[in-house]
Amino acid sequence: MQKKDIKWDELGFGYQPTDFRFEARWKDGEWSEGQLTDNPNIELTEAACVFHYAQCCFEGLKAYETVNGDIVTFRPDQNATRMSKSATRLEMPPFPEDKFVKAVEAVVRANASWVPPFGTGATMYIRPVMIGSGPQIGVAPAHEFIFRIFVMPVGAYFKGAVKPLKLQVADYDRAAPRGTGDIKAGLNYAMSLHPTMEAHRAGYAENIYLDPATRTYVEETGGANILFVNKEGKLIVPKSDTILPSITRRSLVTVAKDILGLEVEERTVRFDEIKDMAECALCGTAAVLAPVGMIHSEAGDIYLPSGMDEMGPICKKLRETLTGIQMGEIEGPAGWVHKIEL
Ligand code: PLP
Ligand code: COI
Repeated sequence: MQKKDIKWDELGFGYQPTDFRFEARWKDGEWSEGQLTDNPNIELTEAACVFHYAQCCFEGLKAYETVNGDIVTFRPDQNATRMSKSATRLEMPPFPEDKFVKAVEAVVRANASWVPPFGTGATMYIRPVMIGSGPQIGVAPAHEFIFRIFVMPVGAYFKGAVKPLKLQVADYDRAAPRGTGDIKAGLNYAMSLHPTMEAHRAGYAENIYLDPATRTYVEETGGANILFVNKEGKLIVPKSDTILPSITRRSLVTVAKDILGLEVEERTVRFDEIKDMAECALCGTAAVLAPVGMIHSEAGDIYLPSGMDEMGPICKKLRETLTGIQMGEIEGPAGWVHKIEL
């Protein structure tokens, strides 16, 4: 297959319309079958619920070209399940999970020439999104919904990709106790825009949010979970009901335990424990595994012993093993790598 003429190794993480997207609509109590379309635009009434009451949720996953030239996605069933949970919490009708996976396959297949070649460092980002599209003025869910999946080739989410990041502790909270922090609701990201821009203006790549109830424990960043390696080489993974259950993080825990033979602790992590950690990283579909070198807070700056030049050795192993599985170079657990038949 002829690939698009793109400088794959120069791609950033940005929108790029590709040839086809999938769209299904909910009306009169049911989802349409859905189909591929070449139209990147959606026409909506000014009263659409999404505009006023932020009734929307989304997902993020990737397609990869493997070392053998296959095109695969990574655990799309997990994104389907998480999107069902997000939709249900927001009073939207979940898109059937088996049809979600089939629609992901259809969009990737239709845009196969946009999947970055193996070895370029770029990947295809897949963005499913659901919105309340019907008119709604009283505060209530819409009666009509649109579900779309579109794709684009992307490079690293954080500039410099594997160079350690500088983060700051946000003065703001990301999620309320018993709120929507554990689903992928657009509203969680709306509230992060101002703190994110403040972090960027101050020279930091991202914010670390603390637990909203006590501001004692580490939660996550605006677009990725966070993890640590302690000085005994144990992977320490913050646990909380108000963070997004990252598929990358859950996969890394399995990689650490079952492939690398590391000890893993999933537990609440106090912010004041970070100064004693050996390594720190962000993880997510977009972030992959991005090392953290420094964290600024009112209590002072923490420099991780892994430094500002290189990723720590355990983070490096975790990243290489996970990306090796995703690119077909390392055998992963059954069902993780989902081949797209072209
Ligand atoms: N946390 C937040 C707030 C995110 O937006 C994301 C991205 O999806 C993640 C964590 C990582 O989740 P996943 O690994 O499933 O992409
Ligand atoms: C992802 O990693 O898929 C996300 O949705 C994060 C987003 C901030 C780009």
